[in-house]
Amino acid sequence: IYQPPYMNWASGALRGAPLICKTTHLGDLPSVFANDIAWRQSDPRQPVYRVEMFESPSGEGYLYTGVTHLHPGLIGDEYFMTRGHFHARREQGEIYFGLCGEGLLLLQDEQGKARLEQVSTGSVHIIPGFTAHRLINTGSGVLSALAVWPSLAGHDYAALAQGFALRVVEQGGQVQAKEVQNG
Ligand code: 6PG
Ligand code: NI
Repeated sequence: IYQPPYMNWASGALRGAPLICKTTHLGDLPSVFANDIAWRQSDPRQPVYRVEMFESPSGEGYLYTGVTHLHPGLIGDEYFMTRGHFHARREQGEIYFGLCGEGLLLLQDEQGKARLEQVSTGSVHIIPGFTAHRLINTGSGVLSALAVWPSLAGHDYAALAQGFALRVVEQGGQVQAKEVQNG
């Protein structure tokens, strides 16, 4: 009987198989946050998010499984978030599952239309193909979400160099989504 790797569903900790881990720090995220002055004044070594995924085969039909742990925090009034991307293979979708913490999944289609989904423990997010995605931590603890995606999907960050059409900020202790004009 094979003992599969496993995940702690409360924390998103992965165990029992080799992992690939990547930490993204504030210094890795130039021009991601709206307030560039606040970003420059922040500590570039501060971790923003860590992605842990099982080392697994890739190829047509294979899937990757990974967990994103996104720290709480603000740059100016804007919540910590992932860089966000389209898949390089645009038609490839992905599923996110909320594990712990509170946040939002920002989705945007190729026409630039953005929408938000509430991420919380047990939430299931079906990200269709042709849809950019970004996690935003609006809570006070770490936001962890499990993701499953096609191994060949790849990442296209450049297509969103101008940013998403929505920014999520804290205003008077409340979560506010603001529309932005790009370019
Ligand atoms: C993926 C997933 C997910 C994502 C991380 C970090 O396609 O690989 O959507 O693992 O990469 O949440 O987000 P960024 O890749 O946008 O930095
Ligand atoms: Ni993705």
